[in-house]
Amino acid sequence: MNANLAALLYLASGVLFILALRGLSSPETARQGNRYGVIGMAVAVLTTLLYHLPAGFGSFVLVLISIGIGAAIGIWRARTIQMTAMPQLVALFHALVGLAAVFVAASALNAPQAFGLGAPDAIHAGSLIEMAIGAAIGAITFTGSVIAYLKLDDKMTGRPILIANRHAINIGLGILLLIFAIAFSATEAHFVFWLIVLVALALGVLLIIPIGGADMPVVISMLNSYSGWAAAAVGFTLGNLALIITGALVGSSGAILSYVMCKGMNRGFVSVILGGFGGEVAPKEAGAAETRQVKQGSAEEAAKLLGKAKKVIVVPGYGLAVAQAQHALREIADVLKKKGVEVKYAIHPVAGRMPGHMNVLLAEANVPYDEVFELKEINPEFSEADVALVIGANDVTNPAAKTDPSSPIYGMPILDVEEAKTVLFVKRGLGSGYAGVENELFFRDNTLMLFGDAKKMAESILRALD
Ligand code: TAP
Repeated sequence: MNANLAALLYLASGVLFILALRGLSSPETARQGNRYGVIGMAVAVLTTLLYHLPAGFGSFVLVLISIGIGAAIGIWRARTIQMTAMPQLVALFHALVGLAAVFVAASALNAPQAFGLGAPDAIHAGSLIEMAIGAAIGAITFTGSVIAYLKLDDKMTGRPILIANRHAINIGLGILLLIFAIAFSATEAHFVFWLIVLVALALGVLLIIPIGGADMPVVISMLNSYSGWAAAAVGFTLGNLALIITGALVGSSGAILSYVMCKGMNRGFVSVILGGFGGEVAPKEAGAAETRQVKQGSAEEAAKLLGKAKKVIVVPGYGLAVAQAQHALREIADVLKKKGVEVKYAIHPVAGRMPGHMNVLLAEANVPYDEVFELKEINPEFSEADVALVIGANDVTNPAAKTDPSSPIYGMPILDVEEAKTVLFVKRGLGSGYAGVENELFFRDNTLMLFGDAKKMAESILRALD
């Protein structure tokens, strides 16, 4: 394949990736967007393989075997992963992208002829800078993502680990990186390259360990952005248009997503990155000492309240995903609508454990898109609702975010469920949510607690409605 055709095909794959992102912006077009993404990636991979075929049949076969092994692991993992463990999986994917960027930069340094970068010891300074940037961002992404994975998977504490003088240490390491990068581009010394990698690996760990669990979604999307920039830097080294385009798309969309999530949690991006938030109260300690009384209700009582209502707003949360209660929930809504009740769904931007988590669950249960509303649209309607049915959600309804400046979630916009005539909470007990803070709404007069697994409780309500 000649270079012009390859460039054209790479451009076509870039356009397909942009169409994919566009499609993914709405649940109605998400499947089509995914298809564009798959086709774009297939075009990019095939073009790369065919363009480099003259490099030798042996390496072609090696690449095919590697792709086969990777695809087999990927398909197995995608089929077996629980939806609730998706953020951890995404963190691991980012780790691999970061590691790949380091390996590609190291390979380019060791065999520059194979990458069209000239003879060893005579690599152009520009290419050396690209290698240094790619390897540094890649190494930070690698260790940062591994720490994020360990925190999200409960393999290490989700609380911030605060090291004394961490900002000074991080700035020091950043300056060291800069000095090594300059030295590397001037000397092409291999050991300086590995020093860059080493310092960046340490920086990745130090940047992420002080960040608390509640801020992890932002971190994941920030690392997503980093992995994109690492890929783009490597794309420049390899002169690969597809990598540059995809890397830039991933880098910028990850940055935008981080910003949107920060807004959803009312956190300043810089304060998230500097770390230290979100672990002040351990989840188990928070609920343990509670002695106040709550009003406990039954599925029958809930069915009666729902059946009598004119307007019901459903607030789904993480517990809905754990229990897989979305189908039973939609059936409840179907029965209510037949009875003439108006049913709407309120989605908080960070409900669940990843962006769009609740939208995906509701779409899976065929909830009509026009019944699903975002926080800003639905909040004024709670005061007109007879029932707010909060199912497996907690933090996103917690009024402490509005009233208690000492709360770790203070400032986060929340769904004003307490303004509904009655609030029904479906959850297993008085356990706290992700941020580990108590929800004072459980003890209010207009709240009825429906204790139980979300799916079982939804099914009982459904039976009681018939
Ligand atoms: P949470 O505040 O985490 O509350 C979920 C509630 O579900 C828990 O209090 C739990 O109470 C209940 N639950 C768990 N399993 C259940 C089951 N099988 N049946 C019924 N209830 C069950 O969820 P949320 O309101 O969706 O808020 C999301 C939180 O996660 C926010 O703090 C957000 O910042 C954070 N976060 C969000 C993301 C993104 S991007 N969406 C990513 C990571 C973290 P019981 O134990 O009493 O049942």
